[in-house]
Amino acid sequence: MNLLQEARELFPYTQALRRDLHQHPELGYREVRTAGVVVRELRQLGLELRSGIAETGVVALIEGARPGPCVLLRFDMDALPIEEQTGAPYASCEAGQMHACGHDGHVAIGLTVARLLQQHRAELSGSVMLVFQPAEEGLNGAERMIAEGALEGQSPVAALAVHLWNDFPVGTMAISAGPLMAGSAVFRVQVQGRGGHGASPHQTADPLLAAAQIVTALQSVVARNVAPLEAAVVSVCSLRAGEAFNVIPDQAELRGTLRWFTPTVGQTLRQRFEQIVRGVGAAMGCAVTIEVRDLTLPVINDAAVIEQVRSVARRILPEAQLIGEYRTMGSEDWAFFLQQVPGCMVFVGSANEEKGLNAPHHHPRFDFDEAALPQAVALVAGWALGRMEQA
Ligand code: NI
Repeated sequence: MNLLQEARELFPYTQALRRDLHQHPELGYREVRTAGVVVRELRQLGLELRSGIAETGVVALIEGARPGPCVLLRFDMDALPIEEQTGAPYASCEAGQMHACGHDGHVAIGLTVARLLQQHRAELSGSVMLVFQPAEEGLNGAERMIAEGALEGQSPVAALAVHLWNDFPVGTMAISAGPLMAGSAVFRVQVQGRGGHGASPHQTADPLLAAAQIVTALQSVVARNVAPLEAAVVSVCSLRAGEAFNVIPDQAELRGTLRWFTPTVGQTLRQRFEQIVRGVGAAMGCAVTIEVRDLTLPVINDAAVIEQVRSVARRILPEAQLIGEYRTMGSEDWAFFLQQVPGCMVFVGSANEEKGLNAPHHHPRFDFDEAALPQAVALVAGWALGRMEQA
């Protein structure tokens, strides 16, 4: 069998699905139409499925003709609250909503993989669990699907997810063992001061000045508290205070994110964050309220599963450029599945500069080269099939 060839033959199907989904993006936990497409296509293949897990999640099982272990594949479905500016003929029909991370592609890849694996059922030993997940973008749909029993009745021995990745040109793939994506937390700080007339600052406790000092002082955490060879991020991404040019406000608010790979660094970030915010706030005569909420764990790719995927890639995609070591401070709730099942995430390069398809993820002009889709399909299907040949 030549899986890449077969995936290319199915490309019109993949592309039509992707473009339809792209035109109808839906935000996290509201992927009702998208889940409807998923259910429709999986039913057409005659697959058993469960839907409505974590609102819109769908889980289906492909049973191979021979006995063997179960493996898990995951595809996320949600879009982002961004107004699309690609001008593509298949651009979003929904105002203020857009598939700006490629999850439309992921669903299309998943449904094409389902079709391909179903065609190869006779060669399948064991089963393949397909998970179509809602709300990846900051809403931890993965965690909620697991809590609502997505894995019940199955014990997958290995798991794979792919992410289209515009940081690489199409034809390049990052298949990297160990830490891949960062653990993340979000924070919100309220700085309570005492406002007054802009001309009489001495009568106030200025929360805006305190917030500005906090932003600056926080830069010392990564620069001075984290070891130089470790990776960490402290980003203040929102600062709100004041309305008028001559009024010192009562309050300021800061929001942002912390990122890390190791638990030690994660702990350092949290401790120093709190000390600095409290200390600087107090020094400026302001009271602070701190809220830090954990979002995701780091994504750590299992070395054995990565080795399998790499050998599948070499065999099925001989022309692909493979990157063996890669990390990003982005985060992914796929980490919650990887807590349950050893597995990995692979980045499938999808940018094409010549075609102008190289805007970064989460950008209003984000779009990817659809030539990446059959490559991803072949890789995922090839791993699912080959994994079971070995088992
Ligand atoms: Ni994404």
